[in-house]
Amino acid sequence: MNQTKISLTGIKPSGTPHIGNLMGAIQPALELARQYKALYFIADYHALTTVRESKALNAQVYEVAATWLAAGLDPEEVVFYRQSDIPEVFEFTWILACFAAKGLLNRAHAYKDAVAKNEAAQRDPDFGINMGLFNYPVLMAADILLYGAHLVPVGQDQKQQLEIARDIAEAFNHQYGETLVLPEPMISESVKTIPGIDGRKMSKSYDNVLPLFVPAKELRKRVMQIVTDSKGVEEPKDPATCNLFQLFKIFASKARQEEMAQAYQKGGLGYGAVKQELFELVDAFVAPGREVYQSYLQDTQKLDRILAQGAQKARDIARPNLAAARKAVGITR
Ligand code: ADP
Ligand code: TRP
Repeated sequence: MNQTKISLTGIKPSGTPHIGNLMGAIQPALELARQYKALYFIADYHALTTVRESKALNAQVYEVAATWLAAGLDPEEVVFYRQSDIPEVFEFTWILACFAAKGLLNRAHAYKDAVAKNEAAQRDPDFGINMGLFNYPVLMAADILLYGAHLVPVGQDQKQQLEIARDIAEAFNHQYGETLVLPEPMISESVKTIPGIDGRKMSKSYDNVLPLFVPAKELRKRVMQIVTDSKGVEEPKDPATCNLFQLFKIFASKARQEEMAQAYQKGGLGYGAVKQELFELVDAFVAPGREVYQSYLQDTQKLDRILAQGAQKARDIARPNLAAARKAVGITR
């Protein structure tokens, strides 16, 4: 195994993860541990830009940690830690801020959107915007550049922030010579978008998710809420335009998909029966992880220990890199 190159990704603890997150982000990111030295961290200080309920922030960190472990992350094999456990990242954020053009940050999507909303409402452009939101991309650049990450698996929405990280690294290297590694984003367009129970992209912002490791009863309830047309049992149905069938396809075997498509077209099949079968498939898919998830959530001290061990390993990588950056800029004794 070639473990010389580093892949790294951050996970913002801003909600309870769903099946779309697992299939679209968590599983592909975990795959990279086969070829790279893999770092995964919980971006808790990034969440502070928006999450202001201290209890919620604290609970979501544990939920996200338990989710990744339940999805198969092996903390012995990879480096798994909390951002806030790495003081080096905040010192490095300052150094990088001195190389981040303000004009570049003015154009960052999250900030620009917030300003546009204010302008549309005829308020002061910076109304309600905190410096954490404005500096978000600089902290993110520090998260990445501190470890010399080569590859950063992220969703499409993170592309611009990766470009900002590269710009900052280039500005630094331009001044002091090749010091920082330029990271490459890995945006897997090939991973198809998992639809939600209403047929739109599954997303916590649409309240249309199949949550991941909830009890079976709750999962069943959500599956039964999948929106379909109102065709009766006897009527023939079209699998190609049916959202329920699209979800079914993700979980069923090839043979079962074909049988089901035929049953749709023939008529005599009610949506309730399809939902029941889909529930059983999703339940079988998440059941092993559900137990692991619950056992971690009941032992948050164990989660703290795992994350603290990860933080040690992360700091071992971070320290020499920060020292090199300090030396480059002339902060030495
Ligand atoms: P949400 O849309 O629920 O707020 P996030 O934006 O927090 O989800 O997504 C975290 C990661 O999960 C993203 O990088 C994205 O690649 C992935 N993801 C989210 N929803 C889906 C989906 N419906 N299908 C596939 N991947 C998804
Ligand atoms: N901004 C990312 C998100 O909202 C989370 C994140 C923080 C991140 N730091 C990172 C992702 C570094 C990749 C690399 O999902």
